[in-house]
Amino acid sequence: MDARGQTPLLTEVSAVTQALLAWYRDHARVLPWRAPPGAPRMAAYRVWLSEVMLQQTTVAAVIPYFETFTRRWADVAALAAAPEEDVMAAWAGLGYYSRARRLVECARVVAELGAFPQDEAGLRALPGLGAYTAAAVASIAFGQRAVVVDGNVERVVSRLFAIDTPLPAAKGLIREGADRLTPEDHPGDFAQAMMDLGATICTPRSPKCLICPVANWCEARAEGRPEAYPVKPPKLAKPARTGTAFWITRQGAQGPEVWLVRREGKGLLGGMRALPEDGWTARVDGSRQPPFAAAWRDLGAVTHVFTHFSLTMTVQGATVTTPPAGEGEWWPLARLDEAGLPTVFARAAARAMAGLELETP
Ligand code: ADE
Repeated sequence: MDARGQTPLLTEVSAVTQALLAWYRDHARVLPWRAPPGAPRMAAYRVWLSEVMLQQTTVAAVIPYFETFTRRWADVAALAAAPEEDVMAAWAGLGYYSRARRLVECARVVAELGAFPQDEAGLRALPGLGAYTAAAVASIAFGQRAVVVDGNVERVVSRLFAIDTPLPAAKGLIREGADRLTPEDHPGDFAQAMMDLGATICTPRSPKCLICPVANWCEARAEGRPEAYPVKPPKLAKPARTGTAFWITRQGAQGPEVWLVRREGKGLLGGMRALPEDGWTARVDGSRQPPFAAAWRDLGAVTHVFTHFSLTMTVQGATVTTPPAGEGEWWPLARLDEAGLPTVFARAAARAMAGLELETP
């Protein structure tokens, strides 16, 4: 701190910003949703779609999905006209499926409006656009000055300013720091420069300070402990849940088939195709009975970590001749990869098939 109670860095924010923008001009990652620095901006549809996909998901995982989506639905009107089930199935594997449902809802509102609103407040009013996405689209697609704070930006800012308040209480200070740094000109390039710096240099572990364009201004580095920021709250263990998925098969005319259901409601994995299961979503523990009497075989178990709990799901299999009660469909095993099963059920299916293979003499 200097005599006015400000960190020395704050007098030099524009130098930090300029150094970052210069670095970005030479080192921006080439990504399919991104215009190179200085080039005309990308269509808002592509920016919005990528930002929704990138929430809680890595760049490497998103790239093939982004390419498939934009090939299949080239603009927001095409996505708005798509059946929700098709979009949900195309989203399978990306996780956090409520994003896909909101994506369609938002596309329909934008198609009705005729175009994306161009300012942060208008974007924020669209379904599914939180503060981050609205700021990212406003700055990247429309060149509006908006303060964009994601996990990468949080890390860069908390290190630059050595913010020693633990998260999440530090969020306000981090936002203030990001606000100070954000320029009027090229705010979209600036936001993406911060993201790239966080993803490639100012990494959670072993940051590469020697090649960092803003190392000279970084207080965490001056302290010699960049990895100490952002300061994390004490970690709470995730509750463990258990459940059972049912692998119900029959011999169809064209080959073996498995019984799939569509999950109800808007809750976890709602609207997605799935194996029938015994209600693990709603309970913490305790086992339930299989859905009907049959010669059930134990085919193994999978574990999957969701945001708020981890799940160990055992897989029980039975072969039947009549369909189970309730709604569902027989799905050919040979085309199971086209069913759009969310990861946890795709893994349960793989486990069931591997379990059955072990059983065959
Ligand atoms: N993560 C979230 N948005 C991003 C973007 N526009 N570029 C790179 N990484 C990101």
